[in-house]
Amino acid sequence: MKPADFPKLPLIVKPFILSLFLSLSLLAFLSLQTPRHTLKKDPSPDLKIRPGYSSYDAYIQRQLNKTLNPKLRQIWTTRDWNRKVHVFSGFFDSLKQRKLLFNESKALCIGARVGQEVAALKRVGVNDSVGIDLVPYPPLVMKGDFHHQPFDNETFDFEFSNVFDHALYPKKFVGEIERTLKPNGICVLHVTLSRRADKYSANDLYNVKSLIELFKQSEVVKVRSVDGFGLDTEVVFRKNKK
Ligand SMILES: *[C@@H]1O[C@H](CO)[C@@H](O)[C@H](O)[C@H]1NC(C)=O
Ligand SMILES: *[C@@H]1O[C@H](CO)[C@@H](O)[C@H](O)[C@H]1NC(C)=O
Ligand SMILES: *[C@@H]1O[C@H](CO)[C@@H](O)[C@H](O)[C@H]1NC(C)=O
Ligand SMILES: *[C@@H]1O[C@H](CO)[C@@H](O)[C@H](O)[C@H]1NC(C)=O
Repeated sequence: MKPADFPKLPLIVKPFILSLFLSLSLLAFLSLQTPRHTLKKDPSPDLKIRPGYSSYDAYIQRQLNKTLNPKLRQIWTTRDWNRKVHVFSGFFDSLKQRKLLFNESKALCIGARVGQEVAALKRVGVNDSVGIDLVPYPPLVMKGDFHHQPFDNETFDFEFSNVFDHALYPKKFVGEIERTLKPNGICVLHVTLSRRADKYSANDLYNVKSLIELFKQSEVVKVRSVDGFGLDTEVVFRKNKK
């Protein structure tokens, strides 16, 4: 290399450095933008909101379509009834034995459809129990949207749900549970981690940690495997004392 070539080098290199700098800035900009966008849509990487709902009303209409399906309602109230009430009674009995549920508990079942869970609670002696769903089924289930529970703060000792996957806004779903639970109240969720839930699901949960992170005022009491109508994991939370 001739010494005379040296001064020319920076002239050739400059545009490269400039374009390298520009593309790196662009990359840095994009990498900052992408997670922000994802965070806005999905509460965490292991909890994905299903796309495709154009509005809250479209989402509610879709949920109603399952809840109101006459064939399903017929099955839920007849063929399904005894088997499900029996299995739910087993879950609730086990919670009573672990001192997480009592006859005196004021209990709520969220997304209770025709109220099989509520009937099971009453069967094991938890008389002050009610369910909510978009469509009421009196006297066991009253009308209520789990994103906006129709109850005052600190109403319940115990809340149960197996419809977490139907929540379009999981943070709101959990926020409403924590709002309406009394201090020290218990929340029990049955969720699926290993299997994609049905076509009416609004989110997919891949890791129980992502569920736990949504609870801001509660501690995890227990995570265990269950066999609950396609749901494989039971997570028990206790809301903090005041
Ligand atoms: C509800 O579901 C039925 C059967 O899948 C379908 O024919 C109907 O168009 C749906 N209605 C709405 C409002 O989504
Ligand atoms: C709770 O209720 C059940 C069913 O009515 C009854 O068998 C049981 O003795 C009650 N337990 C307590 C501790 O009162
Ligand atoms: C709960 O209801 C059952 C059946 O109606 C009744 O036998 C029991 O005494 C009730 N328990 C309480 C604590 O009210
Ligand atoms: C109920 O709880 C919510 C959320 O914790 C809080 O923002 C609100 O002020 C409470 N309302 C009453 C009437 O205490």
